[in-house]
Amino acid sequence: MRLALGFIGLSLLAACDSGTEQRDAVASTRAVQRAYVPLPPGTISRGSAARQAALAPPGPAVTPELLARGEGRFRVFCTPCHGPRGRGDGTVVSRGLPSPPSYLDERLRLYSPEQIVGVITRGRGRMFPYADRVLPEDRWAIAHHVKRLQAEGGADP
Ligand code: HEC
Repeated sequence: MRLALGFIGLSLLAACDSGTEQRDAVASTRAVQRAYVPLPPGTISRGSAARQAALAPPGPAVTPELLARGEGRFRVFCTPCHGPRGRGDGTVVSRGLPSPPSYLDERLRLYSPEQIVGVITRGRGRMFPYADRVLPEDRWAIAHHVKRLQAEGGADP
């Protein structure tokens, strides 16, 4: 009888052990699972040839539509820090965030649209990259809007 109980106890222990192993296996499978998220239209995956092509200079033709698009996207993504005229006086600056340089600085006036696209894509210093939020075509649109703000000299319209 004692032997039988001991045997049951052992097999219960063994059962518990194998249960733990199973849970671990499941947990480690879950860790590599990724939720399926459908790609929004116009998305270009990182590192793809299409993305490289979309970021290659000279970029899309500068049309009134592209500039209008750039102005709208600039207002959404850049104005909070850089201000509506790019003078580095966005609303978050008044709340204590580091103030960005004015686009009217001599150094930044010399930036080509391609360089501005590069800053949006990769970030710079304390500025985060925006590659995951702004499509390549929109980066060009924003860059040309920045060049227009510089050409206008930061004057209020
Ligand atoms: C959260 C605030 C914030 C947002 C939003 C932001 N920037 Fe910046 N940006 C900064 C700061 C801060 C710097 C200064 C970075 C540094 O030199 O450390 C900067 C610097 C820059 C520069 C100058 C880089 C250089 O070489 O000195 C450019 C150009 C620029 N931003 C463009 C943009 C554009 C275009 C957008 C919108 C897509 C944008 N930024 C959005 C904070 C921001």
